[in-house]
Amino acid sequence: MSATFPQPIILIGSDGMLGTAWRAVLDQMQVPYQCPTLAEFDLTDEESINRTITDEVQLVINCAAYTAVDKAEELEELATTINGEGVGKLAERCHDVEAKLVHYSTDYVFPGNADSPYLPTAERNPCNAYGRSKAVGEVLIEQSGCSYLTLRTSWLYAPWASNFVITIAKLAAERDELQVVNDQFGRPTSAQHLAQTSADMIYAGASGTYHVTDGGQCSWFDFATEIARLTDAKCTIKPCDSSQFPRPAVRPAYSVLDLTSTEKLVGQMTHWKENLSAVIAQLRKKETLPHE
Ligand SMILES: NC(=O)c1ccc[n+]([C@@H]2O[C@H](COP(=O)([O-])OP(=O)(O)OC[C@H]3O[C@@H](n4cnc5c(N)ncnc54)[C@H](OP(=O)(O)O)[C@@H]3O)[C@@H](O)[C@H]2O)c1
Repeated sequence: MSATFPQPIILIGSDGMLGTAWRAVLDQMQVPYQCPTLAEFDLTDEESINRTITDEVQLVINCAAYTAVDKAEELEELATTINGEGVGKLAERCHDVEAKLVHYSTDYVFPGNADSPYLPTAERNPCNAYGRSKAVGEVLIEQSGCSYLTLRTSWLYAPWASNFVITIAKLAAERDELQVVNDQFGRPTSAQHLAQTSADMIYAGASGTYHVTDGGQCSWFDFATEIARLTDAKCTIKPCDSSQFPRPAVRPAYSVLDLTSTEKLVGQMTHWKENLSAVIAQLRKKETLPHE
């Protein structure tokens, strides 16, 4: 299988939540790859981009990003330097050396006020500063002329890193009651599912912009309720409105990403309840959660 996967491969942002999942996928495929550290490769340093993406590189998987959504409201310039211009420089370099760029973007490039899933071709109109910075990156990739695969995703979780599943599992074990917003709807995404589906799409020769998330859709309240159920928490999860948890960055009320084109290419996306159950099982194994 590895014979048809483009190589050599550079994996950027390999210590992040998605980068960690990608390392496991590539290890399992027994495909060699290089993971530059932040000291070696920085999206704000063009020289480090050009030094790292050498002539022979065929595939660049970019999991690096500025991902502090609330902080980005105050630090939009920094977010845009990394997620916008930095990604643009990376795309130009990929164009120059004829490497394929696999890149990740977000549901926040949309306004989040729709009532049916956003198609990959829907107009960008970001709901917050982070979304604007990611939209700049998407546009610069498209303008660079490089061969690219941009995968928009949402609500990432994994058995590692800091994410909603780990936070709720811990809080639900400690508290009697938790309030969780029930007026924002989207699609959770297991980082492991996303990395594996990305690999499947690379094998399938996909290029352009696609959406990859878990199957199904839910509110944060539904998601938290299922986390508490799967972890046997005694905690009562109560629904509330987002007005009760004001945050610096606007969160979309409805940012469900349409999966039709992705599913045509690589088959149906696994339902979020199934992926979540697999992640909870891994957390139990790591003894992060109590055993049944
Ligand atoms: N998390 C989500 O819910 C979510 C939702 C939708 C889309 N996405 C997108 O999915 C992708 C992966 O997200 P993630 O949650 O895995 O991110 P993450 O855990 O925050 O990891 C991002 C990685 O990028 C590195 N990085 C930050 N600034 C950099 C720079 N200037 N140059 C090089 N590397 C840099 C970080 O290094 P340090 O840790 O050392 O700073 C970290 O290793 C991103 O494109 C993100 O925008 C995420």
